[in-house]
Amino acid sequence: MHELSDKEIIKSWELNAAPWNEAIENQSIESRKLLTNQAIVDAVLDQQPTSFWDLGCGEGWLTREIGSHGIKTLGTDVISDLLEIARRKDPLGNYELLAYEDLDSFSPKQNFDIICCNFSLIGKESVDHIFTHIASFLSAEGKFIIQTLHPKTASGDEDYVDGWRKGSWAGFSEDFCRPAPWYFRTIDSWKKLYRGNGFQLSDIREPIHPKTGLPASIIFLGERS
Ligand SMILES: C[S@@+](CC[C@H](N)C(=O)[O-])C[C@H]1O[C@@H](n2cnc3c(N)ncnc32)[C@H](O)[C@@H]1O
Repeated sequence: MHELSDKEIIKSWELNAAPWNEAIENQSIESRKLLTNQAIVDAVLDQQPTSFWDLGCGEGWLTREIGSHGIKTLGTDVISDLLEIARRKDPLGNYELLAYEDLDSFSPKQNFDIICCNFSLIGKESVDHIFTHIASFLSAEGKFIIQTLHPKTASGDEDYVDGWRKGSWAGFSEDFCRPAPWYFRTIDSWKKLYRGNGFQLSDIREPIHPKTGLPASIIFLGERS
């Protein structure tokens, strides 16, 4: 078994950039097509930002979508193959290679009204590291928005406690390999991450899957307290 670590997450994404891009292009993740894409776009646009940073942008669909509303955008990711695709799809866009682990030495040209992680917070230390530094990149009224798997539904049959879980590409194409492990956090732990790092939560949204009646994701909107 591969180790359960933040490094292994990056290794996995290095290997799966091409099938991930294909999955996004073919809209093959049903919950994204049905509701979670629109849910995160709405959560961002509701704030009426003028600037937006998509942290862990992947092939950049959300950066492009928000940019299409005339909002200044930055997309960053640690996987160079994904960034290459993002730049190809959006030649005038602003994309930079950046690992969460290097956030403390990053100097963007400006602060942001919204910093957003859409299903891109997977690990443990890397996520803790983001929370330690992210407030310094926000404008005065800026918000840090996270969409992630809903802990209640993602927990499955395992105990509802924080901890590393083995990854799976179940439901994805056979082109995917070496699934990334992920660090499970309860709803309470996500709240503590925000509150323990100088944020208050202005909203929590739970988009309900129209087919299952269960929350497909959870969206946290945090602002500096
Ligand atoms: C599930 S994808 C989501 C991509 C995009 N946000 C979207 O909504 O399609 C997770 C993304 O997180 C990025 N990621 C994971 N760990 C990272 C790290 N330590 N630093 C930067 N990006 C990371 C991956 O490279 C991948 O693009």
